[in-house]
Amino acid sequence: MAGGAIVNTGGGKEYPGKLTLFVFLTCVVAATGGLIFGYDIGISGGVTSMDSFLEKFFPEVYRKEKKDTSTNQYCKFDSQLLTTFTSSLYLAALIASFLASAVTRAFGRKWSMFGGGLVFLVGAALNGAARNILMLILGRILLGIGVGFANQSVPVYLSEMAPAHLRGMLNIGFQLMITVGILAANLINYGTAKIKGGWGWRISLALAAVPAGIITLGALFLPDTPNSLIERGHSQEAKEMLRRIRGTDDIHEEYNDLVAASEESKLVKHPWANIMQRRHRPQLTMAILIPFFQQLTGINVIMFYAPVLFKTIGFGDNAALMSAVITGLVNVFSTLVSVFTVDKLGRRKLFLQGGFQMILCQIIVGTLIAIKLGTSGEGHFSKTYAGFMVFFICVYVAGFAWSWGPLGWLVPSEIFPLEIRSAGQSINVSVNMLFTFIIAQAFLAMLCHMKFGLFYFFAGWVVIMTTFIALFLPETKGVPIEEMILVWKAHWFWSKFISDDDVHVGNVEMSSGGKSKSVV
Ligand code: BGC
Repeated sequence: MAGGAIVNTGGGKEYPGKLTLFVFLTCVVAATGGLIFGYDIGISGGVTSMDSFLEKFFPEVYRKEKKDTSTNQYCKFDSQLLTTFTSSLYLAALIASFLASAVTRAFGRKWSMFGGGLVFLVGAALNGAARNILMLILGRILLGIGVGFANQSVPVYLSEMAPAHLRGMLNIGFQLMITVGILAANLINYGTAKIKGGWGWRISLALAAVPAGIITLGALFLPDTPNSLIERGHSQEAKEMLRRIRGTDDIHEEYNDLVAASEESKLVKHPWANIMQRRHRPQLTMAILIPFFQQLTGINVIMFYAPVLFKTIGFGDNAALMSAVITGLVNVFSTLVSVFTVDKLGRRKLFLQGGFQMILCQIIVGTLIAIKLGTSGEGHFSKTYAGFMVFFICVYVAGFAWSWGPLGWLVPSEIFPLEIRSAGQSINVSVNMLFTFIIAQAFLAMLCHMKFGLFYFFAGWVVIMTTFIALFLPETKGVPIEEMILVWKAHWFWSKFISDDDVHVGNVEMSSGGKSKSVV
């Protein structure tokens, strides 16, 4: 096969080359960009449940919580002001991801990661030292900018660096780091909540500097991707990089395809106008709906509010924080399942299986709560009963952790042609952040009004998204990233949007069945 590429059944070529230690290490370092996002997701819920923090920055909320004698479990923690603290970061990230798109395209993926890490670092310092609400909010905005930049650049970097047949595994390193960040934050909160002097929250917030330091320093040592080097006119460097990351001299086929992709990309002066063209409708649809659906699984209800949720069902403070640690552990280990299966089973099977698992668990959890609290919200859970609930919540988290969690970042990062990849990824990040914001902001009010029905509400959404995947998402495993157009062209629905002229990748010809047949 030397000197040429072969076609795989998924509809693309396979280039020569193997997984080198070099590409593995660069992907591990880049994936640590996920730590800052994860740390933040995990830390805010715990901090906002600490009395000393509430007393200092949200005295009203604190007083209300202490005075609250209502017995309605569903409405105990409903406070818009408090949720604004958690969710403000996501608005900043939403806006920053658009800025990051231009930086990532013009200066390369690595500088977006570096910049994101640096801004996040300043935000962590400001938050740890916060004396007033202004410092707190300003810090949150800087953290959000950091997350926007990192989430925009890291997934794209990983998908471009990885050899096609291992792209899923290497890209999911990002989600794995998100889950590690969440778990680390849960553990830290568990420890700092016990600090007597009332300054535990400072440690929790300031320690965000650790993951920020890792990605900032790490990014300095990272090479840029061949795709980005070619796009920015460094052809020779790109060739050497490709040789190095593929561990072979036989890179001409892949190199030529990257150059062809870059030539096309140069014709595009306005990626934002280009992305609106009819032929990009399938990718645009996915870039909007995948992150939207990911948030509508309801996962962040658990990630942000696990301690509050567990308190609601009658756990003590300690047990509530401990349960958050348990779901955090399940999240990390279940993500590993997708790391090792995504390139064998493919994306679709994981999406569908994970979806079914989540639907079942949400119905069970909603029903368990309905039986005990009914619509009045009055009642208590026995230890065994609460144990059951935690178990099904864990099975739900596991389902998410090997489906929508990692795939929500992997799939959008691998489906765009080069010329609109940065813009497409910004749409993905911003839709994700927008709905993370909305869910974070609305959850406590929704729990108060929809009661146990909230779990049925999310189950309904998972039914919709699972059906959507079954009908509209083609399998992308193993297909080289610059040839993804073949996959859309072969799809029963999306092929209508792509004319034959749109397909001119390498020497691949389309057969009538839509599968690519011949190359070289
Ligand atoms: C999502 C986050 C979520 C996390 C949980 C990520 O993929 O984007 O919103 O909190 O997974 O592990």
